Amino acid sequence: MMEDIWIKKWNERYGEEDYAYGETPNVFFEEKIKELKTGKILLPAEGEGRNAVFAAKLGWSVFAFDQSEEGKKKAMKLAKKNGVTIDYQVGDLGAVNFPQEEFDVIGLIYAHFPANLKSAYHKILDGYLKKGGFVVFEAFSKNNLTYRAKNEKIGGPRDLDSLFSIEEIKADFSNYEILQLEEKEVELGEGLYHNGKGSVIRFVGKKK
Ligand SMILES: C[S@@+](CC[C@H](N)C(=O)[O-])C[C@H]1O[C@@H](n2cnc3c(N)ncnc32)[C@H](O)[C@@H]1O
Repeated sequence: MMEDIWIKKWNERYGEEDYAYGETPNVFFEEKIKELKTGKILLPAEGEGRNAVFAAKLGWSVFAFDQSEEGKKKAMKLAKKNGVTIDYQVGDLGAVNFPQEEFDVIGLIYAHFPANLKSAYHKILDGYLKKGGFVVFEAFSKNNLTYRAKNEKIGGPRDLDSLFSIEEIKADFSNYEILQLEEKEVELGEGLYHNGKGSVIRFVGKKK
C-alpha cells in the first residue's frame, strides 16, 4: 500500500540518532507562539516534537500527533530531556479524533499531507479549532521546486501538488481573518534535512 511506504520512509528517517529537523523549534513558529496567550495547542504531523516541546516549555498544554511511531519515540525523548510533558498520539490525520472547537491554536509546521487530501485535512483541523483561535502555518511553497533543483539539502516535497500557494491557503482557510499571509524566501538551518535557501508560505489566521 502507498501509505505504508510513506510511513516507512518517515520511520526510517526518525529512526536515525540525530533529530531530522533539529531539537529547536521552527523560527516562525517560535516567533508567533511567543506572541499568543498560552492555552491549548494542537500540532498535527509533529514528527520528532521540536515545536511541541518548545510550546510546552512556554506553558502551553500541548497535544500532538503524527503517523510515525519513531517520530513519537524521539518526541517523548526530547520532552523528557527538557522536563516537559506532551500528549502525543500516533495516527493518520484522517484517523485521529479530537473534540470539535477544542484548541486555541493549531500549529501547522511543514505539515505536508498527501496532495489529494491536503485541503480536506485542513477542513478537519479547522473543526478542532475554537472560534477566535489561531492557525500558525509554515510550509514549502510551489516555488521551492526551483530552490530544490539548485540545492537538494533544502528538502521538501518533489511534486508540485504537495506544495502550497497563497491561493490554496486563502481557499482552505476562507473562514479566517488573515493576519499574515506571504510567500517568502527563507534561509533554513533545521537539523539534517532543511538547509539553505528555500521558498515558504507563512500564514497566521484567526478563525471567525
Ligand atoms: C517535514 S515533517 C515535519 C515534522 C514537524 N512538523 C517539524 O516541523 O519538525 C512532515 C511530517 O508529516 C507527517 N505526516 C504526513 N502525512 C501525515 C498524515 N496523513 N497524518 C499524520 N502525519 C502525517 C510525517 O510523518 C512527518 O513527520
